[in-house]
Amino acid sequence: MPHNKQMAQGQPTSISPALWSSRFVFIMAAVGSAVGLGNIWKFPYITGENGGGAFVLVYLACIAVIGLPLMMSEVMVGRRGGKSPIGTMAEVAKAEGRSKHWVGVGIMATLAAFLILSFYSVIAGWTMPYIISAMSGSFSDISAEDSGALFGGLLASPWQLLLWHSIFMGLTVLVSAGGVRHGLERAVTKLMPALFILLLILVGYAATTGHFGEAVSFLFKPDFSALTAEAILTALGHAFFTLSLASGAMMAYGAYLPKHVSIARTAVVIAVMDTGVALLAGLAIFPIVFAHGLAAGEGPGLIFVTLPVAFGQMPGGGFFATLFFVLLLFAAWTSSISMLESLVSYLNEKGIGRVKAAIGGGLAAWLVGITTLLSLNVWSDFTPLDMFARFEGKTLFDLYDYLTANIMMPVVALLIALFVGWKMKPAHSASELGAWHKLWFPVVRYLSPIALLIVFYFNLK
Ligand code: PHE
Repeated sequence: MPHNKQMAQGQPTSISPALWSSRFVFIMAAVGSAVGLGNIWKFPYITGENGGGAFVLVYLACIAVIGLPLMMSEVMVGRRGGKSPIGTMAEVAKAEGRSKHWVGVGIMATLAAFLILSFYSVIAGWTMPYIISAMSGSFSDISAEDSGALFGGLLASPWQLLLWHSIFMGLTVLVSAGGVRHGLERAVTKLMPALFILLLILVGYAATTGHFGEAVSFLFKPDFSALTAEAILTALGHAFFTLSLASGAMMAYGAYLPKHVSIARTAVVIAVMDTGVALLAGLAIFPIVFAHGLAAGEGPGLIFVTLPVAFGQMPGGGFFATLFFVLLLFAAWTSSISMLESLVSYLNEKGIGRVKAAIGGGLAAWLVGITTLLSLNVWSDFTPLDMFARFEGKTLFDLYDYLTANIMMPVVALLIALFVGWKMKPAHSASELGAWHKLWFPVVRYLSPIALLIVFYFNLK
């Protein structure tokens, strides 16, 4: 068990048995959790589907006004509780003299993380055949059409998808079983900076396509006529998804945060890095989309279809493509580990050993993941909730995505904001947040809940 200085300095050991070894390591682990497919795969494609600029603006506002304060809240509650998200909610609600039903927030968050993990692993699996294609030179001079066909071929093959999904879930379980801090600390500190640099190189390449200006105005020139209530909900849900909020991940990691670390400053760093990576991904991808006449609203295949075309034309493209998909795989890995952590830490508390908990949780998510994988091919016409207009035409994968990002996460977020804003003693949150409390408190008490309720209202209307 890695003991550290903070503990020796009087950290309540009964609550936090093992902590991150420094603020830097926590930032790296949290950034590892936050930066993942959400930034590089999901952000570009939902931005493309939702018309660009106005959507991006709403997303940025959601990050700043709701996401960032919520991250501070979750890390704070996590540190106070010092347990799994479920255990923490029970513990902190009790300490504040509140209803024991608040534990439901932890349960819903853990469930969301579990469901996300199930499909996340399928998507993350796609990076592996792409690494092989990149290494074998299949991208060189590939046309947009062939690239689309390559991706289509992968989706059409359930066995291939199953293989990669299984390997990815195995990798996730492996680190989780070994104890998160152990495996993560080393991996993230090297790989995250590498991913960042590679994205910069890609943006540099994208700038040479002659369509950079077009991409910049697509991303940053808001056209509010393209904005629907549904798009606003999607932007909001994505703000939670991309920051690993409302899923227990940040709460679970917060439980390992040493007492002396400033939560607010740390959260700002994480949010800025996460947003930076997403915007860089957008700046790398859209010039290529426009240069090759591809559809911005292409959907979940967007980066898998566009990037090979760019790599195929770039000097040293095979090398950069390999590196890119390897780093994307790692980024997804450090995220999926944090998703599993909500459940594993809970099972662990219930007396199930880490190894067993990780294998059991991973296996269950793997099984559910198979339904996602089939919805991409043999079950692609199975859209079970067609009777509701909102869910019409959605496959199982679409439904899991919608249910988690657009329903469960916003609900969990609202409940957490209400808890810290109204149920927790301000003196307690102030003792955790220091000077930032003055700014944070009115936001979580009034602004975040009201903003969330408005978005709900317009979506239920
Ligand atoms: N934030 C991760 C990403 O953007 C996804 C994630 C969601 C991780 C929920 C943990 C919990 O890829």
